[in-house]
Amino acid sequence: MEKFIMDSDAIDPAKVPTRRLYTGAQIPVIGLGTFGSDNYEPAAIAEAVAGALRVGYRYIDCAACYEDEAEIGAVLQAAIQGGLPREELFILSKVWNDAHAPADVVAACKKSLHDLRLDYLDCYLVHWPFPNYHAPHCDGDVRNPDSRPYIHEEYMETWHAMESLVDMGLVRHIGTSNVTIPKLKRILQDVRIRPAVNEMELHPCFQQGELYQFCLDEGIVPIGYSPVGSPNRPERDRTPEDFNDMEQPIVQEIAAKHGIHPALVCLKWAVQRGQIPIPFTVKRKNYLSNLRCVMEDPLTYDEMDRMRGAERNCRLVKGQVFLWPGATSYLDLWDVDGTIPGWGGYGKE
Ligand SMILES: NC(=O)c1ccc[n+]([C@@H]2O[C@H](COP(=O)([O-])OP(=O)(O)OC[C@H]3O[C@@H](n4cnc5c(N)ncnc54)[C@H](OP(=O)(O)O)[C@@H]3O)[C@@H](O)[C@H]2O)c1
Repeated sequence: MEKFIMDSDAIDPAKVPTRRLYTGAQIPVIGLGTFGSDNYEPAAIAEAVAGALRVGYRYIDCAACYEDEAEIGAVLQAAIQGGLPREELFILSKVWNDAHAPADVVAACKKSLHDLRLDYLDCYLVHWPFPNYHAPHCDGDVRNPDSRPYIHEEYMETWHAMESLVDMGLVRHIGTSNVTIPKLKRILQDVRIRPAVNEMELHPCFQQGELYQFCLDEGIVPIGYSPVGSPNRPERDRTPEDFNDMEQPIVQEIAAKHGIHPALVCLKWAVQRGQIPIPFTVKRKNYLSNLRCVMEDPLTYDEMDRMRGAERNCRLVKGQVFLWPGATSYLDLWDVDGTIPGWGGYGKE
């Protein structure tokens, strides 16, 4: 058995700041994403997880649909058996949209636990609030005729199955992802166990001020995905109108002033604002600097204030593949007028 040994230039994980979940549990202020955007093989991503643990990461953001949990599980098992205490880790996974039926939620969680070679997860999320299956790697214009809008009663059945996972001791916390204020308001009215976190898209060009603040007000920790603007995201998630976060003048100006890569400006901003960024990279140089940057040389108050100016309302993960027959635009998924549209999409019902 190989002993788990930290790298000589590692960040001491005990010194990485944490945020407090409502249960009192702590989660590191930055994690490692594990969705390779179709660009990397599972083995390369698992290797990055191994390297990230050795440089001081303790929060790993996983999901069944990333199709790499088995490879990551082998890495986690080796690290734990090699002496890394399980309780130092914060491992999060997500139930995919083809497993929202209550029995499927339990089976999917057990499958993730089996693949990740763990006996509990620190957090388990409902990945999307729609039970609308689409094949992995499919094009953005693919539509499943069985797709449905958000149906609150159905979501709550899924949620109650998530709650049962906490009762069974299989997961410590549960959370939402890709929800909106109107959906969260309804969900919070009917939960027995509240969401501890909400995973949402957050980067300088998409700051989601209202939803972000709503989460804080409700004691829900916001986790920010695509924190540096997902520059290598799949083709299906690109449109000509998208902005590039790292090319924003304010981001570049601050990067030059601090002598750092623009990606690190995005991450410093995220952590200082209060969300937990989960940048993806398999490159050691990048994941080490991503972790280190949140420990040193903070942005000034003035720089933080000026970063508000990078907001472009630029949603990158639009989610078109979740649309149901009758819906017209990806905006139907995001409750943009403050209401949840029905089968006909906005303006039809
Ligand atoms: N809940 C959800 O629905 C959802 C949706 C999307 C993503 N996520 C999660 O969020 C994670 C991150 O999102 P993401 O992968 O879309 O976007 P991201 O982290 O913003 O972007 C990842 C890309 O940024 C580059 N990068 C990272 N650090 C860098 C650095 N220091 N310098 C230069 N480039 C850097 C990487 O390039 P290199 O490879 O060249 O380093 C990588 O390809 C995912 O892996 C996943 O865990 C969740």
